Amino acid sequence: MKIPDRIASEEELEQLLSEPHPALIEMMKRLDGDIMILGVAGKMGVTMAMQAKRAVEAAGVSKHVFGVSRFSKPEEQKKLENYGIETIPCDLLERGDVCDLPKIKNVIFMAGRKFGTDGNEPQTWAMNALAPANVAEHFADSRLVVFSSGNIYPLRHAAEGGCTEETPPMPIGEYAQSCLARERIFEYYAQKNGTKLLLFRLNYAVDLRYGVLHDIGRAIWEDRPVDNSVGYFNVIWQGDANAAALRSLELADNPRVILNVTGPEQAGVEETALAMGRIMGRPIEFVKNAAGDLSLLNNSGKMQELLGKPRIGLEDMVCLQAQWIMDGGVSIGKPTHYEVSNGKF
Ligand SMILES: NC(=O)c1ccc[n+]([C@@H]2O[C@H](COP(=O)([O-])OP(=O)(O)OC[C@H]3O[C@@H](n4cnc5c(N)ncnc54)[C@H](OP(=O)(O)O)[C@@H]3O)[C@@H](O)[C@H]2O)c1
Repeated sequence: MKIPDRIASEEELEQLLSEPHPALIEMMKRLDGDIMILGVAGKMGVTMAMQAKRAVEAAGVSKHVFGVSRFSKPEEQKKLENYGIETIPCDLLERGDVCDLPKIKNVIFMAGRKFGTDGNEPQTWAMNALAPANVAEHFADSRLVVFSSGNIYPLRHAAEGGCTEETPPMPIGEYAQSCLARERIFEYYAQKNGTKLLLFRLNYAVDLRYGVLHDIGRAIWEDRPVDNSVGYFNVIWQGDANAAALRSLELADNPRVILNVTGPEQAGVEETALAMGRIMGRPIEFVKNAAGDLSLLNNSGKMQELLGKPRIGLEDMVCLQAQWIMDGGVSIGKPTHYEVSNGKF
């Protein structure tokens, strides 16, 4: 994969994010059945569906890629359709509507709710625990890759390194608790029905239009202080996270498999901000709004063993992100709130 020095437009960005991983192209030659992505219309799903479609074409096989969402933003549905992805509008909270979905062999579940949880907890619990029940029952005979979050782990001191798949969950706050509920509901149905399942515990995708690097970079560019209340984080290029999710279809098994998904680097907020400030030619001011030195850190050693290293590393992501912001690149206005350590989103 050729990593450019700068990305000039959203079209170019989406091309790079959806460039099919060579191992994904090979997998498409082996994988039986079609692919369905549930919650396709969000920040990650659109470019994931595009990568799946491009991999199918590059493999020269015949395989449908379906995308399911409510399509609150009709332009996302149009974009997917134009790309040859077959879209099906469906509210996954409506059991009857889920039952009408075609039973596809390979299913990626990435619908969820995070922001707005504080003050509207029932909606989050319904989305993260009830929708999974509808989906797990209907797709009992499918292979399931279920997006989860590194937020289900306890916070760590940077010196301890990230949590591994063996670290017992200790979710802080109702969003993280409901993510664990999502996992447990899928596990329950997998045990009951023998479904092959992989729980995909992701930390922070980087897409330039949003993400932790975006949040740090925009603060610098807009002369705001960089929040270093949570001092360390992990990120992964969204194209790599999406390739890993699609390739995880082959790793799904029964009993269920857990996979931490993020980049190999443990990034410091301060050093990342200083590196971006140098590229942008801007001074940095830091602000620490919470006491303590705990961070959300995820060890992705198992992922690297099974799927290899991500194609784009932290240093390249930092350069691309800084350049994107300096060039006036689009922001979707959805902060990650990487600085939150009390679990309130
Ligand atoms: N992005 C990250 O860095 C990150 C990090 C850790 C974990 N994750 C997890 O990974 C998953 C995907 O991330 P994302 O950033 O793409 O999430 P996202 O932007 O929130 O996208 C999820 C999409 O699911 C759809 N959806 C929500 N409720 C639905 C319902 N009732 N029925 C059908 N579709 C529904 C929504 O599209 P419609 O409004 O069109 O239905 C939404 O855009 C999420 O579960 C998230 O928790 C993401």
